[in-house]
Amino acid sequence: MTGQPPAEDLGAFLGRFHPLWVHLPIGILVLLAILEAASLAARARPLAWLPSISRGQRSLILALAAAFASVSAALGWALAHDGDYDLAHVSSHQWLGVAAAAATVLVLAVHRVRWLYPVAFVSSLILMAVAAHAGATLTHGSGYLTAHMPAFVGKWLGIPPTKPVEKPKAPDYARAMAYADVVQPILKDRCESCHGAEKSNGGLRLDTLEFLAKGGKHGPVVGAGDPSKSTLLARIDLPPETKEHMPPKGKPQLSEDELTVLEWWASAGAPREKPMASLEVPEQVAEIVQTRLGGAPAELMLARGPTLLAAERLSRGSSVLIRPISPDGPWLDVNARPLGKAFGDKELAALAPIAPAIEWLDLGGTSVTDAGLAALGAMHHLVRLHLDQCPVTDSGLAALKGLKRIEYLNLRATAVTDRGIGVLSALPRLRSLYVWQTAVTPAAMKALGDTLTNQRKISRMEAEQAELARQIDAERFHGNTGETLRTAATKPNESPK
Ligand code: HEC
Repeated sequence: MTGQPPAEDLGAFLGRFHPLWVHLPIGILVLLAILEAASLAARARPLAWLPSISRGQRSLILALAAAFASVSAALGWALAHDGDYDLAHVSSHQWLGVAAAAATVLVLAVHRVRWLYPVAFVSSLILMAVAAHAGATLTHGSGYLTAHMPAFVGKWLGIPPTKPVEKPKAPDYARAMAYADVVQPILKDRCESCHGAEKSNGGLRLDTLEFLAKGGKHGPVVGAGDPSKSTLLARIDLPPETKEHMPPKGKPQLSEDELTVLEWWASAGAPREKPMASLEVPEQVAEIVQTRLGGAPAELMLARGPTLLAAERLSRGSSVLIRPISPDGPWLDVNARPLGKAFGDKELAALAPIAPAIEWLDLGGTSVTDAGLAALGAMHHLVRLHLDQCPVTDSGLAALKGLKRIEYLNLRATAVTDRGIGVLSALPRLRSLYVWQTAVTPAAMKALGDTLTNQRKISRMEAEQAELARQIDAERFHGNTGETLRTAATKPNESPK
């Protein structure tokens, strides 16, 4: 009993022989067709030398074909039901196959009826060809046969040219739909295995917009507008070790980028059939979406060669220091500080040819004014900016609004005030701001910090960190010989006083 494999496994094991075995009845039937054709042809004088099939031979061959076809159908059935196939997908091949096997048996039954035999035999051949094609499509995918077909053959057969199996091209950013092209692929990757057509855990399906809108057994999962009202996000945000966390522990988790997109979507009121271009999308989200759709924004693809050439030409005429930041990328570090007051608005405007490539810009101590800061508008890639000790004021800071990559900004010893730094809340990546020796108050700094900090993200990372710390601790060996206890206990005795 114990050594015997369970019957279910035996079926699955034998089922895998179906694709091999199925060629046997096909071969036999094709051979029979050739023999019948030869017998027919032999009736004509010039071909009389061809062999003619005898009744007995025909019966034997048909009996073999019927037996092998029946076994084939049985093996195919076992294969279809061993769990690896989607039954809905297999269904047409399955029934065609059963019909083809039945037809072969039928031909065997009627082959002695002279007028019926040819009709039945040809029908069974056609049925078998159709079933075989459906089976081949199942294993190789549609378009397998025609993938390498020369154009003239296709024209001749009237088959439109098929492209080799290829993913549908993602729409570009402007035409991408907020739900269908941006959110749905994330849910499909991370959630659908448990919340889709096959399984709908918690009564929740996330495979179509209608199901998503319907929610789970506890009601809607996306609230309009307020991400904190979204059960969907709340479940994702839960500490990873809790039972309610989604996707459950041990399953592939959402990446930070995917989360950022989902958070934006929920906070934007879960927009549906709307193109991204019609929505107000923070730069950071837009960039992630663009990358996911497969096209980086144009300004991210600067060529290093021409940029460095332009930089060299510029630095030859002046003493601004221009250096590439890395040995391979096009990004530049531009330093005007050594020029002091000799560097002003005109000199800043002259950097225009390299503006998109500037990543670090030091204008500290120069005579650049509010009017001159307009030139920064073209520096989309700016990450670090020094404006300390420049004659700039609140109104000049408006020019920084579009610099969504800025992480570091130094405004020390300038005339900026609380009113001016309010604008900086539009810079999602700003993490360090220096306003020493200005009129900016700590309260305004705190307010700005609160708007710029993604507390949910930090809490999530903290939870992950705590979980990791727990795992690290669980990996460690904790040996205890009582040594520490003993030393602690004997210490006072060692130095009696
Ligand atoms: C490995 C399977 C699995 C995956 C993957 C998974 N879930 Fe779940 N989910 C469950 C199970 C099981 C339940 C029901 C038990 C529960 O409520 O915790 C559930 C319940 C939920 C509920 C509560 C529904 C209700 O109304 O009670 C939400 C919301 C949810 N999941 C969201 C998600 C999201 C979003 C993802 C993808 C980021 C996801 N799940 C991925 C298994 C999964």
